[in-house]
Amino acid sequence: MEIIKAVNVCFQYNHNHPVLEHINLSIEQGKKTAILGKNGSGKSTLMKLISGLLPTNSGNIYVNGYDISSNEGLKYIRKHCGIVFQNPDNQFVSPIVAEDIKFGLKSHRISIDEFPFRIKSSLEKVNLNGFEKKCINNLSGGQKQKTAIAGILALHSDILIFDESTSMLDLVSRNEILECMRSLQNNNKTIIVITQNINDVLDADFIYLLADRKIIASGTPNQVLTDTEKLEYAKIQIPFSVKIYQDLIKNGINLYSCPLSLEKLAEEICSLI
Ligand SMILES: Nc1ncnc2c1ncn2[C@@H]1O[C@H](COP(=O)(O)OP(=O)(O)OP(=O)(O)O)[C@@H](O)[C@H]1O
Ligand SMILES: [Mg+2]
Repeated sequence: MEIIKAVNVCFQYNHNHPVLEHINLSIEQGKKTAILGKNGSGKSTLMKLISGLLPTNSGNIYVNGYDISSNEGLKYIRKHCGIVFQNPDNQFVSPIVAEDIKFGLKSHRISIDEFPFRIKSSLEKVNLNGFEKKCINNLSGGQKQKTAIAGILALHSDILIFDESTSMLDLVSRNEILECMRSLQNNNKTIIVITQNINDVLDADFIYLLADRKIIASGTPNQVLTDTEKLEYAKIQIPFSVKIYQDLIKNGINLYSCPLSLEKLAEEICSLI
């Protein structure tokens, strides 16, 4: 089911140059959709438009069928959508895990009786069981991002936007967050990943590639991440396995399919032997 739809959306800040032009996209409920683009390509602006934080200049955004600029649309997106930001240190209002989650619950006017259960179960969903009393400052980057995710889950939001949420993390934490996204998706949450890193989108259901203010390619990871011309144009790093695949073709060796990971590449090469 389509949960968010952008139709011919254009946007510019004040009297500056256009940042986004004629954006059309569709986000399916329960899927992982990625918006891939280099620095300054307009990813966060697009995120703000589809989460109702900025109004479009022209075009429409629909959430669950409501125009996002209508009262119903704004109410829907505020209730259902949460954002995890880039910097793990910049998104907390309290130094203690449970207190921070409580702050969100209070501001959404959730009944105080529900607090303990909501906090406990949201921490369990991100594998931070028993972290209620921990000091956020002492957590790893990955644990901080998971605390931010728990804060969103406690509000029962089912659309989660990750705006470069793994970019400041080490490899271990980055993988933890990617795993966390997969488990949320298995629980029917809608995941929107905004990134310039191809490793964040290898398991996406659908990718939109943003460059020059427009969506220049869209499709499955197999379609978008093997389109080296478009990736180069968008200044996005081409997967190493795709480069090797193409070098092998130039040397007369054709693999069965173009692999997106080194593991798959190794499998494909082994199958030739
Ligand atoms: N509040 C603002 N006022 C004016 N211009 C802005 C504002 N926010 C962003 N911009 C400009 O809009 C363009 C797109 O910025 P945006 O932050 O959406 O890109 P991004 O893809 O998220 O970049 P990054 O990878 O740095 O997060 C940039 O040229 C940026 O300078
Ligand atoms: Mg950004």
